[in-house]
Amino acid sequence: MPAPDTSVFDTSVFGQDFRWGAATSAYQIEGAVAEDGRSPSIWDTFCQVPGAIDNGDTGTDACDSYHRWAEDVDLMRTLGLDDYRFSIAWPRVMPEGTGAVNRAGLDYYDRLVDALLEAGIRPNATLYHWDLPQALQDRGGWPERATAQAFAEYASVVAARLGDRVADWATLNEPLCSSWIGHLEGKMAPGLTDLTAAVRASFHLHLGHGLAAQAVRAASPGEVRIGITNNLSTCEPASDSEADLAATRRADGHINRWWLDPILGRGYPQDMLDVYGVELPAQDGDLATIAQPLDWLGVNYYFRQIIADAPGAAAPSFRQVPGPGPRTAMDWEVHAAGLEELLLRVTKEYGVRNLMVTENGSAYRDTLTADGEVLDPERAAYLEEHLAACARAVAAGAPLTAYYAWSLLDNFEWAYGYDKRFGLVHVDYPTQRRTIKSSGHRYAEIIRAHRAPA
Ligand code: IFM
Repeated sequence: MPAPDTSVFDTSVFGQDFRWGAATSAYQIEGAVAEDGRSPSIWDTFCQVPGAIDNGDTGTDACDSYHRWAEDVDLMRTLGLDDYRFSIAWPRVMPEGTGAVNRAGLDYYDRLVDALLEAGIRPNATLYHWDLPQALQDRGGWPERATAQAFAEYASVVAARLGDRVADWATLNEPLCSSWIGHLEGKMAPGLTDLTAAVRASFHLHLGHGLAAQAVRAASPGEVRIGITNNLSTCEPASDSEADLAATRRADGHINRWWLDPILGRGYPQDMLDVYGVELPAQDGDLATIAQPLDWLGVNYYFRQIIADAPGAAAPSFRQVPGPGPRTAMDWEVHAAGLEELLLRVTKEYGVRNLMVTENGSAYRDTLTADGEVLDPERAAYLEEHLAACARAVAAGAPLTAYYAWSLLDNFEWAYGYDKRFGLVHVDYPTQRRTIKSSGHRYAEIIRAHRAPA
């Protein structure tokens, strides 16, 4: 076999214990939404709102991974992954959000975890990737404190069952999206456009994170490492004007500092509390609960933000200006240097000592050739550029221990439906046939080369 080409960047800087993985989430891949006792989540409800999702798509079938998990684990083995990041569907495990536990739901994850370990792949489980049980939304959802407490109850049940085999746990995936996009912009479930609800949701998500971290540590039979994954973006001013510089500071607060400061023990940024003008529903001791010690911090990176002032717009009043770089099918600018900058920022400014890139990837308009291949050189280039950015960050001191590509499979891309394909593996939805794309083969080659003796 010819030696794999890693000339574009040197992975040896990552060290031999570096972990290579891929990520998915429950609602985006599982399907089987009404099977074995799963109850509806807020995404099942949101998908029924006319016009909410492109093409009227829903997660009802998704990639059918609820039935095809063994095939999916085989794909991971073929790619040579060390880790698989997946999420657990709260409505499968605790259909009413609190109280009665659905054994069949837990059994599904139990089988998946065993199959991963059997394949030599380490599970990294996310407890909440946006699929709140609708029953809890009916009682007020994340703007209510009781939802944070319910999250800890659910986390404890899951950890008691899986914590003997799952060591790495993320409490939340991208609480920014749950809060700002779900409660302020209305483009994700539950589809609200209410700043007060959004700020309250963000606070209770953070409180839920802290309570769940405590619950997982207390309930797990084995040793666990707790993290959280945030989607962060570098923010650059569109011009040197005072107004754009101030807008960039607000954007950085809204996108980055609001999500990092409290969980890393700095409390909420005062400038953003002033911008939002919403009183936090905090009680004595909450800030300490939110700032539980973390074993790792997950960074999800997709694009940078170039920011201009938006006079007259509602708080936090800024707008994004398109950058000059090439764009993916999501219309997101490709800008790998932003990942390097972010990893170094959390290292230097926040002193984080164990970082993982828990998501990074790109959507392109992939098609199957007549020979049954998927040739996606843009995605392979995106992967290489971002790995090169990681390598530069590590060389400059970032304690990066893992890189997870988003995503293992093409899947349900939320409000964009199935048209936006992020997978290393193509999914033909009518047949559910999986085909490793050329970028997936390239990723496997990079992993093999990294492991090969020098
Ligand atoms: O598909 C999503 C994922 O669920 C969360 N992070 C961003 C991805 C791409 O939009």
